Amino acid sequence: MSEEYRQAYDRSIKRSEAFWMEAADAVSWTKPPTIAYSQEDGWFADGELNTCYNAVDRHVGAGRGDNAALIYESAYTGASESLTYAGLLEAVSKTAGMLQGLGVEKGDRVIIYMPMIPEAVFAMLACARIGAIHSVVFGGFAPPELAKRIDDAKPRVLLTASCGIEGKRVIPYKPLLDEARKIAEHEVDHVVVVQRLVHQAQISGPNEHDWATHLKDASLAPCVPLRSSDPLYILYTSGTTGTPKGVVRDNGGHAVALTWSLANIYGFKPGDTFWAASDVGWIVGHSYIVYGPLLAGGTTVLYEGKPVGTPDAGAFWRMVTRHSVDILFTAPTALRAIRKEDPEAQYLKLIGIGGVRAIFLAGERADPDTLAWAERVTGLPVIDHWWQTELGWPAVATCLGLGDLRRRHGSAGFPVPGYRFAILGEDGHEVGAGSTGAVAIRMPLPPGCYRTLWNNPAGYARSFATFDGHYETGDAGHIDQDGFLCVMGRTDDIINVAGHRLSTGQMEQIVAAHPAVAECAVIGADDALKGMVPIGFAVTKSGPQFGAELADQIIQRVRDELGPVAALRTVHIVRALPKTRSGKILRASLRKLVNGEPVETPATIEDGGVLDELKGLFQTKSDSG
Ligand code: COA
Ligand code: AMP
Repeated sequence: MSEEYRQAYDRSIKRSEAFWMEAADAVSWTKPPTIAYSQEDGWFADGELNTCYNAVDRHVGAGRGDNAALIYESAYTGASESLTYAGLLEAVSKTAGMLQGLGVEKGDRVIIYMPMIPEAVFAMLACARIGAIHSVVFGGFAPPELAKRIDDAKPRVLLTASCGIEGKRVIPYKPLLDEARKIAEHEVDHVVVVQRLVHQAQISGPNEHDWATHLKDASLAPCVPLRSSDPLYILYTSGTTGTPKGVVRDNGGHAVALTWSLANIYGFKPGDTFWAASDVGWIVGHSYIVYGPLLAGGTTVLYEGKPVGTPDAGAFWRMVTRHSVDILFTAPTALRAIRKEDPEAQYLKLIGIGGVRAIFLAGERADPDTLAWAERVTGLPVIDHWWQTELGWPAVATCLGLGDLRRRHGSAGFPVPGYRFAILGEDGHEVGAGSTGAVAIRMPLPPGCYRTLWNNPAGYARSFATFDGHYETGDAGHIDQDGFLCVMGRTDDIINVAGHRLSTGQMEQIVAAHPAVAECAVIGADDALKGMVPIGFAVTKSGPQFGAELADQIIQRVRDELGPVAALRTVHIVRALPKTRSGKILRASLRKLVNGEPVETPATIEDGGVLDELKGLFQTKSDSG
């Protein structure tokens, strides 16, 4: 372990308040905090600041206005643009002025349903500028999901674009948004649409506006000082029910934590270029496409494209060399996709990897095989690290910026300074090294972590209720003899599909609502590309006679209700589901079955014949290839 990491970690625990007050010095405050932490108001309670000021204005003020702030490249439209900090300041101030012109004030919510275009970044920062609370909704969610977020966040304004682009498909967003507005009870005051050249939306309603036209007349809005605890954004994430959890992020703790993380976890310096190959609709996009690299005074890259097929498996390597990327952050799935297409890394040999210093992975478990491949072909440290929407920034990592380089494939690294982990058994006691338990974090959580759920304080409290004095992450894992923390999976029904967090429970609710379905189960099966994929099982009310047709209908339903991102492609229509005598569906047995693992018949099973039947079914399937 590096001495620097050891010292930082010790200090963050033993003198936590002093540690974070020092970190807070890296942020510009309109009123510097004098209180580090209070139970009621969180971190830096009496401090005031503006996050947009810290991410944009401050750098212009320091004479770095000509430095590149945002590089945008679309693999679909061929757009390739670089915007300086001065340019970003102008774009964001105008967008903020546009929002104010539409009546948006401090504390109002604004939903952003946009593809990966610069206006999405401008919109987020513009909200931060005027103290409006943004809520970005990932484009792969269907209208009913968008409607749920509209009804929960009750936004004054909806910002969108005429379309997203997915591979060769143009996806018109406006009809999806119109559909969501029909479903939602809450009425928004205004909708503003960025018209993209590839597809123009119909802007017809009295409160629907064209972005460019509206922006022209907008004035430049100044930054509004905010309390540290004022919400910066709400980001909805999958919980264990069909209702998404609106994770609320504050301004002060977030700015401090992200600024600290860039330097100390990623070893990122002002002027460096960071590319998080994610989407602004996810937490990775919030923290490391939009806010983090800009707070740290670097350049960030916004890429509209995929790791493969746009046009080929060399896309990432072209991006990093063309834009002089220093730190690349992606999901293991992306590397698996590249490896599948180009196992010998021919593109990488041809194109090179430029000045990339390290590749960081998160969003799902990084399988050791992919990690080893990536390290071999790139010759770089490939660093798995672990975190969640709730936390907002990494909690387990190898802190490159603190000189640490220890890695063990299969582990996400060590606790990041500020985080105190405990692996707990069902009785709430810590289990020993190497034993698996619930991954929990001791209270208080460091700056940047969530302090409530929007409209749902009870839901928030539940994550702190199981284990006294601890936050329950929902993950299971162990700490090995050398202190490496290994996260192995979830303790609830959440699965990670291509790095996208989804709830199988939510999918079950949709499947169960099909009129022909008597009961169902959706489980996460291992997948060589996406890590996990959902697989459905359904029992019909009137026998399995229309199996294929019903399976297609169910798949379409999940797509229509949750969105294409659910990636449910297989549903088995079966005679019955295996259950315990108390009626609990044996999901673990189903999971083993689809994964081709041996399945023992549990003693508690109600009818062993059902399981035998399914074993026969899967045996036949695997025999026939
Ligand atoms: N808007 C609309 N639809 C979207 C979308 C968006 N922003 N993102 C994904 N979708 C759609 C896809 O087009 C696909 O639709 P289809 O079923 O009609 O083909 C579906 O949702 C599933 O998407 P995905 O699981 O991403 O599969 P894919 O086959 O399109 O791509 C990979 C596979 C591996 C290339 C892709 O998942 C990838 O790049 N993963 C990297 C992981 C990542 O960045 N995760 C972010 C968290 S860090
Ligand atoms: P999200 O909130 O979308 O970032 O998803 C968070 C969840 O993704 C975590 O609770 C984990 O289950 C999973 N996850 C994220 N990063 C990792 C990782 N490095 N290793 C294992 N699981 C991860």
